[in-house]
Amino acid sequence: MKYMGHKGRLLPTLGQVLLEVGRDSENAADPFCGSGVVSWFLAENTDLVVHAGDLQRFASVRAAAVIERTASIEAPAVLTCWFAAARERIDRVIGHFPNAMRSIKPDLEDPREIREVVERSRRFSGVVLPPLLDQIGGQWPISKAYGGYYFSPTQALVLDALRHTLPRCALVRDTALSALIEAASRCAAAPGHTAQPFQPTIGAALYIVEAWSRDVWSRVSDAVNAIASRFAHRAGTASARDFRVTLCDMRPGDLVFADPPYSGVHYSRFYHVLETLARGAEINVAGQGRYPPAVERPASEFSRKTEAKRAAAELIEKCAQARLLRLP
Ligand SMILES: C[S@@+](CC[C@H](N)C(=O)[O-])C[C@H]1O[C@@H](n2cnc3c(N)ncnc32)[C@H](O)[C@@H]1O
Repeated sequence: MKYMGHKGRLLPTLGQVLLEVGRDSENAADPFCGSGVVSWFLAENTDLVVHAGDLQRFASVRAAAVIERTASIEAPAVLTCWFAAARERIDRVIGHFPNAMRSIKPDLEDPREIREVVERSRRFSGVVLPPLLDQIGGQWPISKAYGGYYFSPTQALVLDALRHTLPRCALVRDTALSALIEAASRCAAAPGHTAQPFQPTIGAALYIVEAWSRDVWSRVSDAVNAIASRFAHRAGTASARDFRVTLCDMRPGDLVFADPPYSGVHYSRFYHVLETLARGAEINVAGQGRYPPAVERPASEFSRKTEAKRAAAELIEKCAQARLLRLP
């Protein structure tokens, strides 16, 4: 998954430090888990019980996919049932618009033609499709908010249908949702993170065609296959929560990996698409970025200039009070 602040590349060194520092601990906390890579590393490589948290729900789902499970999952069986249920749901929509639902032609090159396709897709997703989706019922947040922007109308429908038909069993469900989040992150027509979609300008039009041509099904399938065989030595916990709540479960001598934001821009600004997918509820969006209102996006005191110092001091103080700090 594309995630700023992702510590994956540092794990060869960081991982060794964490193994060493946490060798006598019972629990480990990753209260700002983000992409979840550090939680996954600790859960797979130690006997620590890992507790992950993040203000963003999608981040906690990513962590939960591995740290809450202590056995692998039969990926082919999960994918067969899940995809069949999603296809059934999509067919109910596609039956009404056999031509409009064609995927974008990958050989489209003329920026004017691309702009036309994009504008048609936006009208289709914003005006034509919603009444039918309302009639079918259920939640279609990706199609309504992001179809024609971050995703082609077809990609958006597939994401919604897969979100709606997630497997019921909780442990399998988190793995499936985590894979769906990863697939959305990889398919989004956006530069780098998902803060703003590409606009159909002369310079960016081709990027839209390339992104809209990506196959959501195969990316979900690849992600499920990659996560299904990974699991924790001991079952941990993960949920969307403030760092203070995650730290509450810790005991003296436990390990804390505290990696709070270091940017003045709230993370939720970059990841609202993934957060909407994780929540699965329709939202109102506005502006070029198709953002939900700021009050509905998780906001962090670490990203506010006036509060960051106090928040960092409180984090250190909380760890010290609970005797989680190991001094050399
Ligand atoms: C630097 S990133 C963490 C990156 C993560 N270690 C990784 O490897 O992907 C900081 C994270 O802290 C989260 N965050 C910000 N304020 C928080 C708070 N008060 N409590 C919990 N999480 C918070 C953000 O949503 C963001 O995902």
